[in-house]
Amino acid sequence: DIPAVRTVLADAFPIGAAIGPQQLVGNHAELLKRHFNSITPGNALKWDATQPTEGQFRFADADALVEFAVANGMAVRGHTLVWHQQTPAWVFTDPAGNPMTATPENKALLLSRLEAHIRAVVGRYGTKIGVWDVANEVIDENQADGLRRSRWFEITGLDYLRTAFRVAREVAPTATLYLNDYNTNVPAKRDKLYALVAQLRAEGVPVDGVGHQMHVNIDWPSVSETEAMLQKFVPLGVEQQITEMDVSIYRNDAESFPTPPADRLLTQAYRYRDLFALYRRYAGEITSVTLWGLADDDTWLDSFPVTRKDAPLLFDLELQAKPAYWGIVDPSRIG
Ligand code: G3I
Repeated sequence: DIPAVRTVLADAFPIGAAIGPQQLVGNHAELLKRHFNSITPGNALKWDATQPTEGQFRFADADALVEFAVANGMAVRGHTLVWHQQTPAWVFTDPAGNPMTATPENKALLLSRLEAHIRAVVGRYGTKIGVWDVANEVIDENQADGLRRSRWFEITGLDYLRTAFRVAREVAPTATLYLNDYNTNVPAKRDKLYALVAQLRAEGVPVDGVGHQMHVNIDWPSVSETEAMLQKFVPLGVEQQITEMDVSIYRNDAESFPTPPADRLLTQAYRYRDLFALYRRYAGEITSVTLWGLADDDTWLDSFPVTRKDAPLLFDLELQAKPAYWGIVDPSRIG
């Protein structure tokens, strides 16, 4: 039997996979239990899944995922409480049935909906969920102030973040609370995220951690750019996690392969090797690494940025270990 990834990484950090309820059975569940000791519900905890209609909560999928994790001694990353995507339209609809404009009344209503949502979702799981991505993808480095012009921001300014973190801390006092974002290796974005986290923490807003999604590809970003990303946040005294890693085999949007070429799978394995070697060197800062999927049979990259088969994870369509697996577990066996 090949080594379990979680055992190989036991001296460094927990290793997670983003999953849905369909992966809690059969061979997928066995693979998950064998190699991983953390999970992230990929969609089941998002607002459109948990509160599609005001006051009507649906927790069946999230409950199944959390109970599986508890039963198998795995950690859970709660993803995510506030996002500009996968949020039902009712959240931003005013009492007259119109899209909210930025008025004081609408701001108060939106913040009260946010508070009620967080109380219900975070409160349901208590200490079973140890980490929350309280807010997701709030940075836009093309804005001078670095803040994404989401409906949240346009109606409440930064108060949606202050409310979300304050309420999450109140409801789950021992949970670690994260701001999560993508492309945090890009210097402009990284620096704007740093400034926001520094500002919020100076105000006393309980931001405990910075999540780096790490949706990367076989060429980008470099290890040194990734190291600069981690290094940047060390002086802030925040925890850091790698929250959504995958490594696309494609170099650009124009490429498409019916099956992954062997040379790409090798290049991918070296990328996993090099990035995990970096993560290990920062194991004092990084408290968890999560892959955005379990195996190549189910990955969001098959439909984004274009529809084509990708192969970004450690296990193939038959759930067999790929060279990428060996890149983490034993690089001498990649080839
Ligand atoms: O549930 C519906 C189903 O009822 C419907 O028949 C089907 C038809 O398209 O869609 C299903 O919803 C899809 C959902 O995933 C569940 O599978 C949505 O269309 C699809 O847009 C949604 O994609 C998710 C995406 O977030 C949404 O932006 C991906 O699965 C999920 O992996 C992805 O995850 C995000 C992180 O949350 C944040 N960082 C980026 C990451 C990748 O995009």
